[in-house]
Amino acid sequence: MTAVGIDAIEIWTGNLKLDLPGTFAPEKGEDPEKYTKGLGLNASSFPDSYEDIVTMGANAAHRLMERKGLEPDDIGRIDVATESAFDNSKPVSTYVAGCLEQVFDGDFHHANKGERKFACIAGTQSLDDAYNWIRAGRNRGRSAIVIATDTALYARGDAGEATQGAGAVAMLISEDPNLVELSAEQGYGSADETDFLKPNQQFPSVDGKRSVQVYLARMREALEDYESVAGDVHPDDFEYAPFHTPFPGMVRKAAMLAYRHVIRDTSVEDELADEIGRQPRPEAFDDDEAFREAVREYMDELKETEAYQEWYAETIDPTLSISREVGNWYTGSVHIARASALKHALESDRDMTGERLLVGSYGSGAQAEIHSEVVQDGWEDEIEALNVESQLEARYDMSWADYEEVHDVHNHDMDVDVEEFTAPESEFVFDGWGRMGERK
Ligand code: CAA
Repeated sequence: MTAVGIDAIEIWTGNLKLDLPGTFAPEKGEDPEKYTKGLGLNASSFPDSYEDIVTMGANAAHRLMERKGLEPDDIGRIDVATESAFDNSKPVSTYVAGCLEQVFDGDFHHANKGERKFACIAGTQSLDDAYNWIRAGRNRGRSAIVIATDTALYARGDAGEATQGAGAVAMLISEDPNLVELSAEQGYGSADETDFLKPNQQFPSVDGKRSVQVYLARMREALEDYESVAGDVHPDDFEYAPFHTPFPGMVRKAAMLAYRHVIRDTSVEDELADEIGRQPRPEAFDDDEAFREAVREYMDELKETEAYQEWYAETIDPTLSISREVGNWYTGSVHIARASALKHALESDRDMTGERLLVGSYGSGAQAEIHSEVVQDGWEDEIEALNVESQLEARYDMSWADYEEVHDVHNHDMDVDVEEFTAPESEFVFDGWGRMGERK
């Protein structure tokens, strides 16, 4: 069977930067280490006043098409995944296609366009849709573009404000991909939850602490479901495990959960089970405080083992490097985790061809998906082509006053006009509703 998967990716970050320990922490009266060590974040990417989900998505897709030498006729499908959409009827992909048609010969009239919504997991769901479309033989030799684009902003003063971010990831999905082949096997954990909502509102209502528990509970179900179709997972089966990263501290918790689930260190677990009367595999909302305390102690001990620390340093930590500098990109987040991991592999001369990734996606509301990917032999060239470091370095570092102004610009409830902090360079810009996506 021909491989189907991600052929290439491009990343587009918001052009502004909010320094969390240097600028955010002093204003909040918090210890900077709450952000750098606790949440695991150094900075957030932020959209300038002329950027939004369309411009960032179109800029990423433009770079992708240009670098791969593609014309509109090569693309049969454009899907945008976002939880920051501004139009309840017309999908964001039509706006993006309109931008791209300004610069490429031909049009996308033949292409099926859509928009996927299920919080942050929608980017992976769009990948799955493109995979299925190609596998079903409906693609007529064409590839799909999947764009995950979000302005992940929270209301001022919300606990989530520290985890904001903005950026887009564009991915080309095709047969015989250069980067990774997607597995046919998937595992799901899905339940009706109300931890993170945006009912006709721009900034989310979030129960932050509960959202962390829901993430873990659904991820554990997805892992079990994945094992039921793909067989038991062992930590050594995977070179990297990119997970949805709302902030790196969340992935620290998910990694521990996954490790504990898969190591099956029955000698340690049985000993604890004797002590506490059952296996230390709690439901996330177990109400027995003594049991929870015993499990916490067990986890603390496990965390200190050399085996866990080595596995975490090699398999998980490298997936977090971009996220630490940009914050949460919602739908794009797990896809920048994959890119971080493969950049690490390139920088450390790891031979990745044929190696496997365990990918954990998550969306509030809530659903987790686990699948695996096999790295393909063109991966080095694809990762080498990324220019994410230079984009991050070029960001304008906002003062607190700049941040307050630009946050208001992105609040649709407010009518404010703020000068641009950066000058757009050969990119699509948002310049009022009548002139959406003009290229400057
Ligand atoms: N030095 C070191 N660490 C410190 C510290 C210091 N001085 N001060 C605090 N910390 C640690 C805390 O111990 C904590 O770590 P643990 O969780 O490991 O104990 C961490 O820093 C964060 O501190 P708090 O829990 O006190 O932080 P908070 O209550 O202000 O906010 C949050 C945390 C509730 C997660 C908040 O950031 C939030 O609401 N975020 C948005 C929701 C979110 O991202 N949820 C994640 C799951 S849902 C999801 O994944 C979907 C999505 O993308 C939104």
